[in-house]
Amino acid sequence: MDKELKVRECWDNLAFEYDYKNSPKWFWTNPEAWAREIEHRISDSDGNKILDVGCGAGVISIPLSSRFDVTSLDFSSKMLLQLKSRKEDMKSELEIICADAHQLPFKDESFDVVICRFAVWPLHNPQHAISEMARITRKKIVIMEGDWGNTKITIRHKIFGRPVYGFHFLLYKFKTGREPKKQFEEMKKYHKTSTSFELIKEWLENAGVEIKEIDYSLKERVSTKKSKFLRALTGFEEEMFILVGEVRKDEEKT
Ligand SMILES: C[S@@+](CC[C@H](N)C(=O)[O-])C[C@H]1O[C@@H](n2cnc3c(N)ncnc32)[C@H](O)[C@@H]1O
Repeated sequence: MDKELKVRECWDNLAFEYDYKNSPKWFWTNPEAWAREIEHRISDSDGNKILDVGCGAGVISIPLSSRFDVTSLDFSSKMLLQLKSRKEDMKSELEIICADAHQLPFKDESFDVVICRFAVWPLHNPQHAISEMARITRKKIVIMEGDWGNTKITIRHKIFGRPVYGFHFLLYKFKTGREPKKQFEEMKKYHKTSTSFELIKEWLENAGVEIKEIDYSLKERVSTKKSKFLRALTGFEEEMFILVGEVRKDEEKT
């Protein structure tokens, strides 16, 4: 099978899992808290029109749509079907577009802010997709990602963490019928890209975006009580960040 189709299929298979109301998926961090982090960073003068790139089943788009004019974009039709049914169920107002992040089907500066949560790492050409995001935003880009390469695996994690997380995965499988570990392995076969703050910064700067803020402290604010407890117990720490960039206008670039 064509690699691009296979990649899409990987995400299609995860659509149910990314549902806004799938509580086991949101065990670690709280989607509403993530949405608040974005909301705080968009002022009235920035504007109201937001594009969520790689929106998945809309776990961030849905809460943001009560305050902003949101368009949600993804290339997985099953993710978008999941979003559509949840949108109807919750009477959310948002527009849904099926497209590839590498070719955004919009004119220049069509949106005030582009947001992208955990959807840079799967891209096969992140530089190109980030340039597309910079092209279609009038003002800001807000990216949320993990510095997974900096994950700390402590001895405490090896002794206590692995059994605890193993048990969590077992419960997850019991509740959802799915095996996260197997899915990660499948994903790894088709996704080569990894990200870090340094790489994303470089891609944004190459696209004419100035970095205005980088905040690693959000993890504490978006984490659920259960995940804070497990982190304290096992010493397992994953670094994640929110980054805000502003597009330099042509007159500023010269
Ligand atoms: C880890 S999920 C994140 C979903 C959502 N942003 C969230 O925070 O729940 C990555 C999403 O990116 C989408 N994606 C991956 N490659 C893409 C591409 N080339 N164009 C559009 N969407 C893409 C996947 O279908 C998936 O929904």
